[in-house]
Order: sequence, then structure tokens, then C-alpha cells
Amino acid sequence: MPEELRGLAPAKINLTLEVGETRPDGYHDLSSILQTLALADEVALRPASAPAMEVTGPFADGVPTDAANLAWRAVDALAEALGRDPEPLRIRIDKRIPAAGGLGGGASDAATVLRLLARRWPDVTEDALATAAAAVGSDEPFFLAGGTALAEGRGERVAPLPDLPEHGVVLFIPPDTLPNKTATLFRALDRDGQVDGATVSTALAKRLPVRVTGADLYNSFERVAFDCFPGLAELWEALEERTGEAIRLAGAGPTLFWIGPPDGAARVARAAAGLDCAGIATATAGSLWRR
Ligand code: C5P
Repeated sequence: MPEELRGLAPAKINLTLEVGETRPDGYHDLSSILQTLALADEVALRPASAPAMEVTGPFADGVPTDAANLAWRAVDALAEALGRDPEPLRIRIDKRIPAAGGLGGGASDAATVLRLLARRWPDVTEDALATAAAAVGSDEPFFLAGGTALAEGRGERVAPLPDLPEHGVVLFIPPDTLPNKTATLFRALDRDGQVDGATVSTALAKRLPVRVTGADLYNSFERVAFDCFPGLAELWEALEERTGEAIRLAGAGPTLFWIGPPDGAARVARAAAGLDCAGIATATAGSLWRR
């Protein structure tokens, strides 16, 4: 058995994110086409005398190194799903995905921990992985699949879709996010009152694989994000004006993104120079796990 197991944990964007009714359990029904990116954290696991976690890399600041980190919780969730004692492990994460930005980095780290544990623990089944993923968070089941996929329910019903052809993606990361961001944005949507159906997701899922631009995409959170994140509306307007293209919100934000032909990314990244955000040029990427 290798001393250390390593894997990549890709970021995601939501090509569509349509938020429906609030359910009796407090979650919202949603319909979302998600897409993994080449931008990824690196996750490593090794046996230790007690559970431990180390987070390094350009976006390590403020990332919890205890049970508040979803990757830590993933170990306990999978052990519980299997009815075994959690093995003490040292988890190391090289954080290249900005945290709490709408890019799913924390959920992806946790899904990669689950995939790595499946190589280490002989009793892991796909059912146990699915149970553990759903217990850790709503984006988790998507990251077990990766690539292009449709997520429904509270996010836990995931159906793989044909891979999107490779696109360039440029991420624009504003300097600030919000505490308890995802729940805060869902509450803002509740106050907003509009409930979306699965219209755009269903139509796009049928057309795939296809080339897209921001103009083909939809995100319910855009109705409230510009009120919730100070300065985001100005940044978004400046980006659309300078690039001449549709810019979209990633998940519950505050990251904004451009998507288009792979050779367009460098021009778009240059156009954003000097604005109050960090720019990351990346690309869409297929599943690391799907065979
Ligand atoms: O499941 P997860 O912990 O990622 O969700 C964070 C919060 O986002 C939940 O506590 C809930 O308030 C909200 N949420 C929701 N509907 C979903 C997913 C998340 O209301 N489908």
C-alpha cells in the first residue's frame, strides 16, 4: 500500500443553475448543469498517529484545518457509511482554487478524499461513496462524477452528460466573499420570491455537446448576488464593457467568469487587467474518474 495517495480536485462552474421551490427540509430544489475545470487543488493522504490537516498554496488563507473542512468530514462520513472506525490520516491540500468563491473547491477536495479512500479501504462501494458524499454537502455527488453533468433534487441526483467540447474559461475573483455565503444567498433568493423551473438546463442538456458562450447560460443567483456582494455589479459591468461579452456568476458567487473558444481566454484575461479582482485563465476539463 503506498505511503501517500494523491489526487487532483478540480474546480467547477455551473453552466446553468435554476433554483426552484424551498422543500420541507429547508433545502431548495434545483436543476443545474455543472462542468469541471482544469484549475484544481492537489490533495494528498497519508497514515498518521492522529487526524491532521495542512493547507498550503496561493489560496490557503482562512481555509479551516479541522473538522470544519469538508475534506476532514469526508473521512468520517465514509467510515460511518461503511460502519468502520475512521483511520487517522494526515490530509494535505495545495489550495489553488479560491475558497468560498462559488467554484466548489472545498466540496471537490472532499470528493477527492473519498476517491482516494476508495483506493485505500478495500470495503468501499459506490453506494457507500454516494451516501458519504450526500452527507458531506449538496455539491459533493457531482464531484464524485465530474465532467459535464446535470444535478437535480438538492444537488444529489447527478446524471452524467456528454462532455462539453473544450472551452476557455477566465475566472474573475473579487477580493471579498461573505460569511456563511451559500445559505445567505439562498435566503436572499427566498426574499426575492421568484421560483425558476428547469427550462434552460433541460434545453441545454438536450443540445450537448455544443459550443456555448455566457449568453447561452443562466444562474438564478444573479438576481440577488449583485445586492449581496458590494462592488460586484460595478466589476461585472466593467468586465462586460471591456470584453464585449456576456460574463456570468459562478455558483452562488462572488466569482464571475467568461467562457468561450479556447483561443479567446488570453484576450479576455488581458482585458480585465487593473480591475479589482484576481484573474485566472483556465479551461473546461472532462472527468478524472469517469471511464
Ligand atoms: O448542502 P450544503 O452544505 O452545501 O448547503 C449549504 C447551504 O445552502 C444549506 O445549509 C442550505 O441553506 C443551502 N442550500 C439550499 N438548497 C440546496 C443546496 C444548499 O437551500 N439545494
